[in-house]
Amino acid sequence: MSKPVITMNVKAEKATEALFTACGMEGMMKLKTAVPNAAERPLQVRDLFWTCPHNADLRGASIMTHPAFTSDSVAVITGGASGIGHAAALKFARMGMRIVVVDRDTDKLAAAVDEIKAAGASDVMTSEADVSDRGQLEALEQQVTDRFGGADILMNNAGIGGKSSTLGDAAPWDRMLGVNLWGPIHGTQIFAPNMIGRGRPGAIINTGSKQGITTPPGNPAYNVSKAALKAFTEALSHELRSGPGHQITAHLLVPGFVYTGMTSSSEKPASAWTAEQTVDFFVDSVNRGDFYILCPDNDVSRDIDEKRVAWSAGDVIENRPALSRWHPDFKEAFEAFIEKAD
Ligand SMILES: NC(=O)c1ccc[n+]([C@@H]2O[C@H](COP(=O)([O-])OP(=O)(O)OC[C@H]3O[C@@H](n4cnc5c(N)ncnc54)[C@H](O)[C@@H]3O)[C@@H](O)[C@H]2O)c1
Repeated sequence: MSKPVITMNVKAEKATEALFTACGMEGMMKLKTAVPNAAERPLQVRDLFWTCPHNADLRGASIMTHPAFTSDSVAVITGGASGIGHAAALKFARMGMRIVVVDRDTDKLAAAVDEIKAAGASDVMTSEADVSDRGQLEALEQQVTDRFGGADILMNNAGIGGKSSTLGDAAPWDRMLGVNLWGPIHGTQIFAPNMIGRGRPGAIINTGSKQGITTPPGNPAYNVSKAALKAFTEALSHELRSGPGHQITAHLLVPGFVYTGMTSSSEKPASAWTAEQTVDFFVDSVNRGDFYILCPDNDVSRDIDEKRVAWSAGDVIENRPALSRWHPDFKEAFEAFIEKAD
C-alpha cells in the first residue's frame, strides 16, 4: 500500500512538530484522513482541530483551536442581547468576528450594539427576529448572506422559562417548545445548508440544559423542550460528521446555574456562575472538540453532575420509578449514591 502524501504549508510546521511529538506518524496519517477536503488543499495549523474527534490522545492539547474561532468568521447568536448569548457575542467580538445579534428584546438589542463594537467586532448586525417563527429566520438568513456571504458560527441560544404542568394549560407548552426547541431546529435547518455550502469551518452550538438530561419535576414543558433539543443536536452531530467534506461541528452547551436575565434574583446568588465564566468554559470545550459541554457552577461540580446523570440513566436500567431521585422511597439510596467515593 502506498504511503499517503502529507503536504504541509510553512505555517503548519510548528503544529506538525507538536503533532509528531504527541502521536507520531500514525497521528499524521489520522490528520490527513480526518481533515475535510484535505486532498484538495495544503494542511494548515488550524486543521489540527479535526484530529480531536478522531484521536483521543490529542484531546486537550493546547495546540488546538476550533478553526471557526478566527477573526474571519461570522457569528449569529440568538438571544444575544442578554445573559449567556450576550457574553458569547462579546467573546466572539474580542476575537474580531463579525457578529449578528438576534433578540426580540429591542431595548437590550440596541444597548448591546455599542458594547459589542467596543469589544472588537469588525461589524455588528442586529435582528429582532423571533426564533420561533420560521419565516423570520428565513428572512434573517437572507440578510446575513446578502451582507456577509453567510454564517460560520450559529449559536441557537434564545430560550425562555415559565410555569407548566403535564395536564395543564397548553399555552406555555406552545411558547417554550416554540422558542427552546423549534427555534434551534429552524435556525439549524435554515442556516446550515449555506454554512456547509461555503466550504469553510463552522460550528453550530445549541444551548440545552441539565433539565433536558435529568428532567427534574417542576417545569415539564421546559424539560421536554431541552430534552428534545439534546436529541436533535446529537442527531445533527452524527449527520454532520458522517457527511462528506463538512467542516461544520455541532455542540450541546449545557450550562449550570448562571446569573442572567432568566435568574429571578436581583443579585448574583453565590451558587451561580457568571455568563462570562460559562462562555469561557464553553469556548475552551469547543476548542477541545467536546460535543457535550457540561458546565459546573459554584455549587455543582462535574463529579456531582456525572452522578446525577448516571442515577437518571439508572432509573431505566434498574427499573426504578420515573424520576426516582425525587421519590421518597429512593431518597436515602440516591443520597448514598452521591456520597459514595469512586
Ligand atoms: N441561566 C441559567 O441558569 C441557564 C441554565 C441552563 C440553560 N440556560 C439556557 O441558556 C439560554 C440563554 O439564557 P440566559 O440564561 O442567558 O437568559 P436571558 O434571559 O438572559 O437570555 C435569553 C435571551 O433570549 C431572548 N429571547 C427569548 N425568546 C426569544 C425569541 N423568541 N426570539 C429571539 N430572542 C428571544 C431574550 O429576549 C433574552 O435576551 C437559554 O436557552 C436558557 O434556557 C440558562
